[in-house]
Amino acid sequence: MIKKCLFPAAGYGTRFLPATKAMPKEMLPVLTKPLIQYGVEEAMEAQCNIMAIITGRGKRAITDHFDISYELEHQIKGTSKENLLEGIRNIIEKCTFTYTRQNEMNGLGDAIYKGKALVGEKFPFAVVLADDLCINPDGDGILTQMIKLYKKYKCCIVAIMEVPKEDTDKYGVIEGKELEKDVFMVSNMIEKPDKNKAPSNLAVIGRYILTPDIFPLIKTTKPGKNGEIQITDALCKMAQKGMVIAYKFKGRRFDCGSIDGFVEATNYFYSLKNN
Ligand code: UTP
Repeated sequence: MIKKCLFPAAGYGTRFLPATKAMPKEMLPVLTKPLIQYGVEEAMEAQCNIMAIITGRGKRAITDHFDISYELEHQIKGTSKENLLEGIRNIIEKCTFTYTRQNEMNGLGDAIYKGKALVGEKFPFAVVLADDLCINPDGDGILTQMIKLYKKYKCCIVAIMEVPKEDTDKYGVIEGKELEKDVFMVSNMIEKPDKNKAPSNLAVIGRYILTPDIFPLIKTTKPGKNGEIQITDALCKMAQKGMVIAYKFKGRRFDCGSIDGFVEATNYFYSLKNN
């Protein structure tokens, strides 16, 4: 039912300069795999097979990554290195990739709105921010968990986690009532509130299931925090109609948009590899 996954990947990744001067942040590797490939694999596990990527200037490496590289494949054919490309080959075989550009960095809400041309207005779709690397070593991936929940509630779902109060100004923060264990009906959402204005310490991370009725709400959303069109503000309008569920997911999330989170993820995946 949810077959399309949107990857807003147009941001500049300024926290990783100079690495991101000519290379997209989403292509930074954790061990040998670029961040966006982890996201695509999570989406595939959740049965999505159409990956819709919002790119910008300087992001061609993403398009090339999800395409065959004939010269390279020819070069390593029959060698022990061939198996290093198995994972990406499997992705290319099973998924369709579509792209559009966000011409100006007007915020995540605007990037998602640009995705309307790719995901259409008929069906719900998933959204993955590839710089939030999520993993659940004990079972279903985060998107799979969210899609299961969508089948029950049939409305927008945002993934949340508890954060220290002093970190609320880095996230969208929800206010809500717990309906069942780890599932909240959202009544209010605030983008990057100061700790004394935050309605809770439940922060939204980069995984969403959105219904297409989000598009007209984004269209009428005025620029908010940092002068950007915030998806949080559009979702807040949706929440006021009782149409947003927040889900405290099972698993771990690494903030790979920050240096600390990126190093933490690298160490974590390295320790998995060696165990
Ligand atoms: P971030 O704010 O973390 O990304 O946006 P950034 O701007 O690339 O990073 P810094 O702060 O400069 O280091 C979260 C996600 O939303 C996408 C980004 O690509 C990232 O995946 N995004 C953000 C867009 O696609 N367009 C935007 O206008 C803003």
